[in-house]
Amino acid sequence: MNKHLPSTFTLLIFGASGDLTRRKLIPAVFNLYRQNLLPEEFSVVGFARSDKTDEQFREQLKIALAAGRNLPEPDQKDWSKFASHLFYHQGQYDDPASYQSLLETLEKFGSPSGQARNYLFYLATPPDVVPEVIRQIKHADLARRGLQESPWSRIIVEKPFGHDLASARELNTQISDVFKEHQIYRIDHYLGKETVQNLLVFRFANAIFEPIWNHHFVDHVQIAVTETLGVEKRGGLYDRSGAIRDMVQNHMMHLLSLIAMESPISLDADAIRDEKVKVLQSLRSLPPECAGQYVVRGQYAAGVTNGYKVAGYQEEPGVSPDSTTETFVALKLFVDNWRWANVPFYLRTGKRLPVRITEIGIHFKSIPQVLFNTERLGPMTPNVLTIRIQPN
Ligand code: BG6
Repeated sequence: MNKHLPSTFTLLIFGASGDLTRRKLIPAVFNLYRQNLLPEEFSVVGFARSDKTDEQFREQLKIALAAGRNLPEPDQKDWSKFASHLFYHQGQYDDPASYQSLLETLEKFGSPSGQARNYLFYLATPPDVVPEVIRQIKHADLARRGLQESPWSRIIVEKPFGHDLASARELNTQISDVFKEHQIYRIDHYLGKETVQNLLVFRFANAIFEPIWNHHFVDHVQIAVTETLGVEKRGGLYDRSGAIRDMVQNHMMHLLSLIAMESPISLDADAIRDEKVKVLQSLRSLPPECAGQYVVRGQYAAGVTNGYKVAGYQEEPGVSPDSTTETFVALKLFVDNWRWANVPFYLRTGKRLPVRITEIGIHFKSIPQVLFNTERLGPMTPNVLTIRIQPN
């Protein structure tokens, strides 16, 4: 690693060789940089097992950035300046010596402005490694538990957060033992999408929607998140989660709760969280014996996407040839409260589908056919309010 880290703010990415770092994190941080939203003295340190130099790390990220479908060609000059803030630290997640050498490098070179460095840890590792990294952060005394002001530490934990309720609770206990709640971010990148945030404004800043936003007027709600991509290089990881853990319990539940929640008392994070929690608590539970009535699971087979031949899920690297992990799921859910009594919420998500789209459809009830038809042929086509989250 370069011996002159120029920073008061350091983003430490654990799992820096992975798909998430290449595909999402670095492009996002680069965008912040281009918009002058990062402090002048910042650095990004990638921590992972594979051996590479700072230069190789930067080059790999640059290639991935240029290949990203939705990103503008990185401006060469901007990228070179940004890349000089990127560093790589090779280490083993369970090896105290790796953290000691990381710490020494970070501490040895104070920031040019003389301020102590703030740390943001981003855990982009496979989920089974997360508890170990947290243990080692504690052991290396990097957590700064209880410090409110600078220098601070914060931790972001990627999903899946455990793999079931019991393991999620256990992970929570482990993190809370090392960090205080205000230091912990359990991330869902859908919350960073402007169109998702705008759902709140759309619903609560327009007086016309509130009176009709309930079971008296809404027949059903559809939420679809479809992707054309397959599991890419994440077969091994994905095979242990599947669409329900990868997309439904996080991204889709956020969309559902933003559509179904009551107005929060303020735009405070806790106030919004409290209202969302009530929605999730109101979800009708599905007893296993009834699951077949409400849930459909599927898996993609070999085929053609965007003119290219693509492998079936079971042939993807890292995926077991007899895997039954779902890459598609459709669910019919009910929010059992007074606002949404008996309004079905249909959720659908999957990989390798014909189009990439995230959309919410509010389907209103049919109105009686009294106005335009003399012959009463049946109900008129009901109104649908379609909210497009992405791609545009
Ligand atoms: C991630 C999932 O959380 O979201 C991926 O793990 C998925 O499987 C991705 O591809 C989709 O995000 P976006 O922002 O491209 O809709």
